[in-house]
Amino acid sequence: MTVLVFGAGGAQGGAVARRLVEEGLAVRGVSRTGAVPEGVEPVRADLGDRGRLREAFAGVTRVSMVLPLEYDPGRVAAYTRNVLAEAAAAGVARLVFNPGNRLPRADTGAAAFDTRRAAARAVLDSPVPAVVLCPPIYLENLAAPWVRRGLAGEGVLRYPVPASVPVAWLSHADLAAATLAALTGDDLAGATLDLGGEPMTGPELAAAFGARYKAVDVEVFAAGMAAALGPDVAAGVAGTYRWVAGPGRELYAASPGGAKRLGIEVTSPADWAAGQAWRWQR
Ligand SMILES: NC(=O)c1ccc[n+]([C@@H]2O[C@H](COP(=O)([O-])OP(=O)(O)OC[C@H]3O[C@@H](n4cnc5c(N)ncnc54)[C@H](OP(=O)(O)O)[C@@H]3O)[C@@H](O)[C@H]2O)c1
Repeated sequence: MTVLVFGAGGAQGGAVARRLVEEGLAVRGVSRTGAVPEGVEPVRADLGDRGRLREAFAGVTRVSMVLPLEYDPGRVAAYTRNVLAEAAAAGVARLVFNPGNRLPRADTGAAAFDTRRAAARAVLDSPVPAVVLCPPIYLENLAAPWVRRGLAGEGVLRYPVPASVPVAWLSHADLAAATLAALTGDDLAGATLDLGGEPMTGPELAAAFGARYKAVDVEVFAAGMAAALGPDVAAGVAGTYRWVAGPGRELYAASPGGAKRLGIEVTSPADWAAGQAWRWQR
């Protein structure tokens, strides 16, 4: 079995690729620069380049798909079309799509949600047997410099989610375990599964780090993110947090049924925090 992993040089695709290599699978990793984890066969391809993608798909039977930090609807639709066309042509037996977020039931006006809703629909409508795995917010976001500074330095977790909104936080390692299970498990084709552990509020999450919680204004948070990732990505991400602070407050609270169906144990935030060298230590 050869698994093609998109975004293999990135945060989520990299975690998936490493886990599949650990399992002894043949893993080919797509990125534009060719940067992939050790043990992964690198393929330089742009999601916009059908010809390069066709070469990447040669001999591939399974696919782990995640879209990059791109929220332009036309570009995301083209990337998705290209991957699905080449996956169908290659006769892929299972494609696991990670939209990078939970999926609201209807369009929200936030491109980072709406482009992924459209992509998930295209994936499930395609002839390729597919599973959609929807993560909530990643614990790794807390390690971003603009969050970690307050958490590790002052014991204050500043995040743009209102204190009362419950979130079923997930680690990249658990995403990788879920992806492995979805790539190989029976009776999953056509399923859309929400991933995550026990939902908790901001103050409960902060307590897992021995810290205090302070909900921050989305615009302040986006400014910190813009410095590192650019204004377009920051604006896209800010749109999701704005929606979650309003009509979407239950989006990340769904019960952890997806993990159960895949047979994976979700790491608690406290256990995850204990493994971080930078964590707040009183
Ligand atoms: N729920 C959450 O908490 C959360 C947090 C972060 C991100 N996300 C979502 O998760 C998704 C991925 O984020 P990530 O953090 O894993 O991204 P990332 O770390 O930036 O990784 C992106 C990967 O895709 C590759 N890539 C970028 N553009 C490409 C293109 N045009 N063609 C082929 N490969 C390309 C990059 O490598 P090259 O640069 O070498 O091409 C890299 O390997 C996004 O949809 C984002 O919105 C969600």
